[in-house]
Amino acid sequence: MDKNFYITTPIYYPSGRPHMGHAYSSIIADFFARFKSIDDYNVHFLTGTDEHGLKIQRSAEKAGKKPKEFCDQISQTFKDLSKTLNLSNTDFIRTTENRHKKTVQHLWSLLEKNDDIYLSNYSGWYSVSDEAFYNEDEIEEIEGKKIAKSSKSNVEWIEEESYFFRLSKWQKPLLEFYEKNPDFILPESRKNEVISFVKSGLNDLSVSRKSFSWGIPVPNNKNHVIYVWLDALTNYLSALNYPDKDDDLFKKFWPATIHLIGKDILRFHAVYWPAFLLAAKIDLPKKVYGHGWILSGEEKMSKSKGNILDPLEIIKEYGLDPLRYYLIKEVSFGNDGNISQERLEDCINSDLANNYGNLCQRVTAFANKNCDGKIPLTIKFQEEDLLILNKFKDNLDNIRSKIDNQNINFYIDYIVSSLFEANKYFNDQEPWKKKDDQIRLNTIVYTTLEIVRKISLLLYPIIPESSLKVLNIFEIDEKKVELSSISDNEYLIKGKKLNKIDILFKKIEKKND
Ligand code: ME8
Ligand code: MG
Repeated sequence: MDKNFYITTPIYYPSGRPHMGHAYSSIIADFFARFKSIDDYNVHFLTGTDEHGLKIQRSAEKAGKKPKEFCDQISQTFKDLSKTLNLSNTDFIRTTENRHKKTVQHLWSLLEKNDDIYLSNYSGWYSVSDEAFYNEDEIEEIEGKKIAKSSKSNVEWIEEESYFFRLSKWQKPLLEFYEKNPDFILPESRKNEVISFVKSGLNDLSVSRKSFSWGIPVPNNKNHVIYVWLDALTNYLSALNYPDKDDDLFKKFWPATIHLIGKDILRFHAVYWPAFLLAAKIDLPKKVYGHGWILSGEEKMSKSKGNILDPLEIIKEYGLDPLRYYLIKEVSFGNDGNISQERLEDCINSDLANNYGNLCQRVTAFANKNCDGKIPLTIKFQEEDLLILNKFKDNLDNIRSKIDNQNINFYIDYIVSSLFEANKYFNDQEPWKKKDDQIRLNTIVYTTLEIVRKISLLLYPIIPESSLKVLNIFEIDEKKVELSSISDNEYLIKGKKLNKIDILFKKIEKKND
């Protein structure tokens, strides 16, 4: 069985500080990466920055800096953010690195050799903010300004000599590919949009620019730089050292398991990217998932709109894990979602402090008083104990398959209801009334501790730091976090001392309570 898992985030434009939308994509990708890593997969998790093109060149000019110097500085803030978000990424790529430039030029030469690239002239609309060409029917005029209908960003007219990629030639093969691989584009609703776009006919794509120089030069024609999207998309290959034949990253991890992106850049990933790969005779990624947007009011949160919620400020005020939990739970995965501080606070109070934190506190405090601060030694399971314990084992394969279908909503609901059941179990069993039946008392404590362990395994991909704090009660460290151990009802070592745990999540006092 294929136990390799390669997940990517978009590589972000270092044109301004990272915001909640970037944090969101990265946290979701980290969730999948961590889930797979505790399920015994080799995980390659890539993120990075997309540093060429006119958008960056202009941002640098505005800041009065040279493009490279400007990118160095802002790319570093994205790198710092991946630390702050506790991402488990195994690589961080910058498109200004040599390893990347080499791969892009190689890919270009392959396309050229296969006669998929030709020189001509481009005239049409271009959005620098999206780094995208738009057809006449994709733009509209509002208050005398031409904007792209989909992104609402300004477009400008450009006319220049340009190399073209024969995208039109790949229309039929793309449609056949979508047909044969129904899970290639997800979610379903977005797949239909892409298919109807491709069916409506594809124009050849301009893949070089001549009027500015901040980019990777076209091999054999230094007057042109390669179109930033052909450059950027190739990062997924260059990070695997493609085409280096002696390197086994590519052999091991290509084709990518999943490109996780926002729906704003679906066309690039689900149409252009597979077309480039088909033309270069490279295998296509297995899946492209275009998640929804985090909205601020009704609008997409974005740098160019200036309606940004700063992840760093939220983390400073509430902590990282509450933010991770909140984003994963509250933005129904695949759809757009509004976020608010109010809802974040509710989430911390009800799910994290009351449900999870309280369960951990209660059972450990009880064990300290009544079981000598140890994992009970002598136990005897009854039916009701095994009933709740076995559920985890019985659901494991289902959980795995839900994750393979990106059903995060199922996953989080499963955790929330397990927490609810666990608290109910402890209440209903009333161990405090069992002081004259030590074995029964022990068994209830042991069962509850096992449930805490199992739920913490499931929470690890969402809130790794807090989950590890809880698992440390049992001296389970990160290396020992293994999903398969969820099936074991007697994993905990009987008679072993329980380590202390601090308050996990502080309840937020709400202003209008
Ligand atoms: O498009 N809600 O970079 P970018 C959710 N460099 N996700 C959001 C978001 C929001 N409001 N705003 C941004 C680029 N994102 C290219 C990508 S990939 C080869 C090149 C996330 O800085 C989401 O993943 O504009 C979106 O697709 C991505 O950031 C765009 O980041
Ligand atoms: Mg963008």
